[in-house]
Amino acid sequence: MKILIAYSSKTGNTRKLAEALHLALPNADLCPMGSVPNLEQYDMVFAGFWVEAGNACQDAIKCLKRLGGKPVALFATLGAYPDSRHAADSLAAAAKEIPNGKVVDSFICQGAIDPNMIEWMEKLPKEDENAPDDSRRQLWKDAATHPDDNDLQAVSDWAVAALEKQQALV
Ligand SMILES: Cc1cc2nc3c(=O)[nH]c(=O)nc-3n(C[C@H](O)[C@H](O)[C@H](O)COP(=O)(O)O)c2cc1C
Repeated sequence: MKILIAYSSKTGNTRKLAEALHLALPNADLCPMGSVPNLEQYDMVFAGFWVEAGNACQDAIKCLKRLGGKPVALFATLGAYPDSRHAADSLAAAAKEIPNGKVVDSFICQGAIDPNMIEWMEKLPKEDENAPDDSRRQLWKDAATHPDDNDLQAVSDWAVAALEKQQALV
């Protein structure tokens, strides 16, 4: 089974997951979503993105739209907690971008938020809906150490299980 691991990462969090996946699935091809080769040759795609405004980031959406009909395993990082409604909704929104999508499984974990974005949000007026409060600042603090070694182990284990799940279907 020929496998592609394609990912989009602005500040490196999702790239770390993609690289851990590649160690777990060494025969897979690894590439950034901006330079995905001919997809015809692949039997399964692990598609990784960072969450942007509650969906996959923009260049990941472009790539997801090309994955129609293929078995896809989604992996992602986001600032919010991985067991939050927002995390589940973001994965669901990304899955919907794949025409006739066949999502085999999905994985999501926290990823440190760009300090420039934190600085920008700290400057927002108090009445702005994105202005931080104590719980938001705690979230940023919790996100800052992710993805950590546990996340990388978890995404590797998940990838092996997702591949086995797909292989059992064919
Ligand atoms: C412009 C922008 C929008 C973001 N939107 C969200 C969001 O809607 N929800 C969320 O939980 N995190 C959001 N984040 C946080 C990123 O998803 C998170 O930090 C991610 O791990 C970045 O991954 P990367 O290092 O691979 O680029 C956003 C970050 C940026 C820069």
